[in-house]
Amino acid sequence: MDKNRIATLTMDDGRSIELPIMSGTLGPDVLDIRNIAKLGMFTYDPAFFATASCTSAITFIDGDAGLLYYRGYPIEQLAEKSDFLEVCYLLLNGELPDAGQKETFTGKVKEHTMVHDQLARFFTGFRRDAHPMAVMVGVVGALSAFYHDSLDINNPEHREISALRLIAKVPTIASMAHKYHTGFPFMYPKNKYSYVENFMYMMFATPAEDYVPNPVLVRALERIFILHADHEQNASTSTVRLAGSSGANPFACISSGIAALWGPAHGGANEAALNMLEEIGDVSRVKEYVQGVKDKKYRLMGFGHRVYKNMDPRAAVMRQTCHEVLKELKLENNKLFELAMELERTALSDPYFIERKLYPNVDFYSGIVLRALGIPTNMFTVIFAVARTIGWISQWNEMIADTDHKIGRPRQLYRGAVKRDYVPVKKR
Ligand code: ACO
Repeated sequence: MDKNRIATLTMDDGRSIELPIMSGTLGPDVLDIRNIAKLGMFTYDPAFFATASCTSAITFIDGDAGLLYYRGYPIEQLAEKSDFLEVCYLLLNGELPDAGQKETFTGKVKEHTMVHDQLARFFTGFRRDAHPMAVMVGVVGALSAFYHDSLDINNPEHREISALRLIAKVPTIASMAHKYHTGFPFMYPKNKYSYVENFMYMMFATPAEDYVPNPVLVRALERIFILHADHEQNASTSTVRLAGSSGANPFACISSGIAALWGPAHGGANEAALNMLEEIGDVSRVKEYVQGVKDKKYRLMGFGHRVYKNMDPRAAVMRQTCHEVLKELKLENNKLFELAMELERTALSDPYFIERKLYPNVDFYSGIVLRALGIPTNMFTVIFAVARTIGWISQWNEMIADTDHKIGRPRQLYRGAVKRDYVPVKKR
């Protein structure tokens, strides 16, 4: 394969097979194990600890070094210098836009910020106390029913318009989920605002008052969106790819990604991390709580990562953003933030966490920032979904554009009953 490098696998019965070694532009080499089928065998790697499920040119992570690049650009540079729509363009198209491309792209996204008026009726079918992620799974999936004119996934123009619709409409749907839950009227998007300002407007404005976005808070949310925009083949992205590999439409695929994101081991961790901080309640209880973690009674939410065995680079940016937001809001002595800092200090100096290479992940601090911005806890994972939509759609698009892609179909190691004959109920 790459430079004809080969590994040889020899079986206990003497048979052997050559496995090509593939190299990427960055990261470890990868063994192409497809020849193993010639031995009449499969490989076994539940939870994908050692398996690359695809090739991709979008996002690179070096978990040992704590690096994250979008299309080659370090996340710290993008978080500091870029804005979310520029990052969307980059992830989708591979390059940063020039001034004209940026203006056109921004204009196209703004054209699609409203949702079909009938979509609003879906909300009233939900209980007011429904979790907004439940509403997101349903309503984003329901977009499939509205755009039959552009659902030919093999047509690049159709894929582009679906991508634009998703980037533009998911924030509108997210804010509607929040308004419905709290009983306030829906706020239609206002395209005079930037993408993030508009989202904050739809979330926080009411028809009764003027709304003036605070630039420090807008910048903080912009950073949260940038930091969460993509993260290579995580659980929700792999779900989107697997659903998309069957030819399902992009709205249905993104809805499946939202469902996968919801779990506390993935996107639900930001909500769980904030609930945990509130449960601990006071700095004086940190040691006792950490002991409970070490006794395996519960996990420290917002800590640990499958890939990062060093500081999550997004967590470092988020901690800085946390400082900025709390200062702006004159909440420097915020109790939860102090608690989080103490928890981080205690965990990072404890052998349990050091030996297992458990560091804070992005969700450890994002909850405090979101809380300070006035976003209710049950909307935290929804914010993550809004930001990750661009990653999902870029990864889906990359897969569909590859004409060699096939339906994803893992195999299994069967350990069930061997063949047996049916016994009538009276004889059982
Ligand atoms: N608190 C305490 N111990 C932990 C934690 C944690 N947060 N995470 C892992 N461990 C321990 C495990 O108990 C295990 O210990 P053991 O070897 O004694 O059995 C060891 O570390 C390895 O854990 P695994 O579960 O095998 O690691 P895995 O890579 O499968 O899990 C995961 C990664 C799911 C993120 C895990 O670290 C976790 O549950 N973290 C808390 C939830 C969280 O913050 N998720 C957000 C992830 S980032 C994101 O989605 C944006």
